[in-house]
Amino acid sequence: MGKGKVFPASSARSLVNPMRRLVQSPRRTVKACTIRQSDVVLELGCGPGYFTPSIAEAAWRGHVVALDLQPEMLEFALPRVHGPNVSLVAASADQLPIRSSTIDIAFVATVLGELPVPARLVEEVERVLVPHGRLCVVETRRDSDFIPLGRLESMVEEVGLAMVYRQGPPWQYVACFERPGTVDP
Ligand SMILES: C[S@@+](CC[C@H](N)C(=O)[O-])C[C@H]1O[C@@H](n2cnc3c(N)ncnc32)[C@H](O)[C@@H]1O
Repeated sequence: MGKGKVFPASSARSLVNPMRRLVQSPRRTVKACTIRQSDVVLELGCGPGYFTPSIAEAAWRGHVVALDLQPEMLEFALPRVHGPNVSLVAASADQLPIRSSTIDIAFVATVLGELPVPARLVEEVERVLVPHGRLCVVETRRDSDFIPLGRLESMVEEVGLAMVYRQGPPWQYVACFERPGTVDP
């Protein structure tokens, strides 16, 4: 796939290829985000819903908003993510149709590098997170738009979120950042 380009919906099937489970288990990846059962989770760039069922299972008493730029991706995702606690939304991650301070966890897997200005996504996430809400970013070097941890850290810390932990090796990690408890007026 072209570097910095939006992953084409015509190749959605490759993202849910069973072989991917061997190298990037959705259940293990989601577990690393320590989602609580009543959390409201925003999945940005959900694509065909590879991670969404595991997120919905973790937040089974909460709600999952699975958002993607391409409606065709959401159509592909629909049969995989039809649970009562999941909503699918077509929108851009850098201009979220979501009220401020309403999201407990923002989950972003292999998406950031596709945005023209990834920092805008991070700014929007900072706006919609509740105090102590977390941004969990999943990156893998298998993706041509891979963002190294150091670059991610600088981008996210710039908006005032602090890294709380990271799991996995530098070439395939889950990094979680927290919004401070008190927010400047
Ligand atoms: C490589 S796919 C990853 C999909 C899914 N997160 C996964 O890991 O299987 C990247 C996804 O991000 C979406 N995307 C790219 N730019 C976006 C934007 N500005 N807003 C929302 N989604 C976007 C694409 O449509 C695509 O579905």
